[in-house]
Amino acid sequence: MSWKNNANGWGWTSIVIHWGTTLVVLVLFVLGLWMVELTYYDDWYRQAPYIHKSSGVLLLLLTLFRLAWYYSNQRPKPLDSYSDVERKAAKWVHGLMYFLMFSVMLSGYFISTADGRSIDVFGWFEIPALVLGIENQEDLAGDIHFVLSVILISMVVVHAAAAMKHHWVDKDPTLKRMLGISGSPGIRSDGNYFNTGENK
Ligand code: HEM
Repeated sequence: MSWKNNANGWGWTSIVIHWGTTLVVLVLFVLGLWMVELTYYDDWYRQAPYIHKSSGVLLLLLTLFRLAWYYSNQRPKPLDSYSDVERKAAKWVHGLMYFLMFSVMLSGYFISTADGRSIDVFGWFEIPALVLGIENQEDLAGDIHFVLSVILISMVVVHAAAAMKHHWVDKDPTLKRMLGISGSPGIRSDGNYFNTGENK
């Protein structure tokens, strides 16, 4: 399999970014919920937010690269088995997840820089505080950050359920394509899917 996408499947670059993002988003969500309960006397009081913020900035950079990759690359064609409703729903849910990821990262930036301090990313580089002086900035951004991350995780659950439905109910190769599993049912011996909706 190539590192680039083709009409029949995702390349390694998209696959690694997709599952890497999944891991980071889930870990950041749990870490975020845990760290806000820590007190000054806990060992992780400073370390946990440092890791959370630094990873959030790296995820932002990765997501920008992911979008650039997505639009500069060929995208796998939808399978014939997808209904029109499924095609439209997938488009909306994918778009909404990108929107939510950016909004969560942006609100995180507003929380972290509310006191004028820049964000130190693992000691490698810093992101300066550019917007200051919004009334109640830290609390307001904190509420938005929390609500949007809960909505994001809910969308991820819906998205993962759809992937399971394709895998277990429709028995099509949607999930296998994102796992990079070739030679699965639905794939011809030449490596191409026989049921891609090329004419839709
Ligand atoms: C933070 C978690 C996740 C995010 C943000 C996410 C986001 C996305 C996005 C935006 C796409 C469209 C392709 C792209 O832009 O790269 C996609 C595709 C896909 N995702 Fe996820 N995903 C997540 C987790 C999961 C999980 C947990 C599963 C399955 C258990 C899954 C299964 C799939 C599959 C099978 C596709 C390919 C759909 C197709 O070929 O049309 N994703 N995901």
